[in-house]
Amino acid sequence: MPAEAELQDAKPAAGAAGTSRARVLVIANQKGGVGKTTTAINLGTALAAVGEKVLLIDSDPQGNASTGLGVGRAKRKTTLYDVLMGEKPAVEAVVPTDLPGLYIIPADPDLSGVELEIGSQSRRSFKLRDALEQIRRDGDFTYVLIDCPPSLNLLTVNAMTAADAVLVPLQCEFFALEGLTQLMRTVELVRGSLNPALEIQGVVLTMYDRRNSLSEQVASDVREHFGKKVYDTVIPRNVRVSEAPSFGKPVLVYDLKCAGSQAYLKLAREVVVRERQRRAKAA
Ligand SMILES: Nc1ncnc2c1ncn2[C@@H]1O[C@H](COP(=O)(O)OP(=O)(O)O)[C@@H](O)[C@H]1O
Ligand SMILES: [Mg+2]
Repeated sequence: MPAEAELQDAKPAAGAAGTSRARVLVIANQKGGVGKTTTAINLGTALAAVGEKVLLIDSDPQGNASTGLGVGRAKRKTTLYDVLMGEKPAVEAVVPTDLPGLYIIPADPDLSGVELEIGSQSRRSFKLRDALEQIRRDGDFTYVLIDCPPSLNLLTVNAMTAADAVLVPLQCEFFALEGLTQLMRTVELVRGSLNPALEIQGVVLTMYDRRNSLSEQVASDVREHFGKKVYDTVIPRNVRVSEAPSFGKPVLVYDLKCAGSQAYLKLAREVVVRERQRRAKAA
């Protein structure tokens, strides 16, 4: 949890985030193992499959999104670390994946040093936002997805400061809602000082097990609490989803027909439709 004082001190960045074509979504939840990376990879793949141009930013030093998309260590020449340190422009770090329309800025373990290295700098929370400015302005990406570490640390704050909205994967298990209170508090803090325009894009229920009555109970509690912000699409627990990363493939490529792939495709369509409605309303 970043210190409140630190968040309050920082000055908002210049320039409106809402003017670019790209919708920048931060995939956040400080709990580990709730499906953030899986959602980043497979929602990204599914969005690309329905015609969007997607940039995935791996902002977790574990680099699971990079590995899961087949971008092994050898292909990670320029990483998010170099970008946040100001050593390389973000465009130079963009690597194409095997999927047309899907690109990634990979991460490696160096990224875990960022907190120490930039932690005392004045624009420490704006590093990613500043770095993405050129991509937002000149790039033709329609979606930028940022995969976060399981923590509300400086990397997550940077991602929230750079984003238009937060997408929350929520595992259908006991205590799921309790963790959300802390996440929402961080979103409020970021909104109050670093990024007033930050919205909640939506909540997606993951690893849903229909044989388990707890899954159903959690799903209905979450819907009661978040209303329409919860996507109709629910991602089922599906073994094919968990097998795919070890082949360096999104599940949509590994097994398009399985329930997990179909759910992520459905989610992508829902995201696109809702996004169109939001834009129409805002226009
Ligand atoms: N729908 C699913 N069905 C089965 N396993 C899943 C599903 N979603 C995620 N997993 C598995 O659960 C584990 C945690 O998911 P991951 O996306 O890495 O979470 P996070 O990024 O939030 O830590 C991984 O092993 C992943 O393969
Ligand atoms: Mg992860």
